[in-house]
Amino acid sequence: MPIHKFLVVFVTAVQLLSPRVQSQVTFDQPCPKLDVVRDFDLHRYLGLWYEIESYPAVFSSFASCVTANYSLLADGNVRVINRSFNTSSKSFNMVDGTARLIEPPKGQAKLGVVFPSNSFSRPVPADGNYWVLDTDYTNYSIVWSCQTFNGKSIQFLWYLSRQRQPSESGLTFVHHRIDSFGLDQKFLKTTEQRNCPDAPTSETSRPIRQQPPTRTSYYYREN
Ligand SMILES: *[C@@H]1O[C@H](CO)[C@@H](O)[C@H](O)[C@H]1NC(C)=O
Ligand SMILES: *[C@@H]1O[C@H](CO)[C@@H](O)[C@H](O)[C@H]1NC(C)=O
Ligand SMILES: *[C@@H]1O[C@H](CO)[C@@H](O)[C@H](O)[C@H]1NC(C)=O
Ligand SMILES: *[C@@H]1O[C@H](CO)[C@@H](O)[C@H](O)[C@H]1NC(C)=O
Repeated sequence: MPIHKFLVVFVTAVQLLSPRVQSQVTFDQPCPKLDVVRDFDLHRYLGLWYEIESYPAVFSSFASCVTANYSLLADGNVRVINRSFNTSSKSFNMVDGTARLIEPPKGQAKLGVVFPSNSFSRPVPADGNYWVLDTDYTNYSIVWSCQTFNGKSIQFLWYLSRQRQPSESGLTFVHHRIDSFGLDQKFLKTTEQRNCPDAPTSETSRPIRQQPPTRTSYYYREN
């Protein structure tokens, strides 16, 4: 069994300005060293993904029917349309962000994703904040993000699927894969994907989008 399973200490719940509770999964040790997908094929990765499970992240209260839609921008970066249905207000939330490969020539599945600063304002680490640990492009993706602070780490984990309701064997397979990375499944929360209303189709005509970040505004170096 992976040793860091024994070192998991606490889950912090930070109450911020809004009534919405932000919680993060925090580990009492630095980020483990994990490999990402090699020879990553960004084009095959594009399109719609359903969030099946995740470590609790910001923006999660009342959120159901979470999807991420990746599409190519003219400049080669990726547009991220991240949508969820608020079961309390009965309306869709949408965040429109930008993703880019950290070092395209390397072919590693390390991306930096930025959303408009009001929804997700942490700077992107030099090594990215969206690592695809495993994907077959057509069924599932396991995405991980980790940052070390003072010897502790904050981790995010997403199980994304091309199907809103993956099969039981698909779930089992992905859980097995997550386990094989030594990541803790105990903190995974199921995202409600039942009774999802049709999403409005406004995103194709939506005029407002933040400018893609410049390299200097986008990354910070940890040294
Ligand atoms: C969508 O974005 C929010 C942050 O705004 C994040 O909490 C959520 O996990 C994201 N979902 C996916 C599938 O990327
Ligand atoms: C969902 O709507 C409720 C109000 O009905 C609001 O308090 C809550 O913050 C919303 N959740 C998100 C993630 O925006
Ligand atoms: C993965 O997706 C492909 C294409 O949709 C499908 O043919 C295949 O059966 C799926 N594999 C698994 C293990 O679910
Ligand atoms: C995903 O986003 C692209 C680009 O905005 C859009 O053309 C496409 O219809 C979207 N797909 C879905 C399923 O929402």
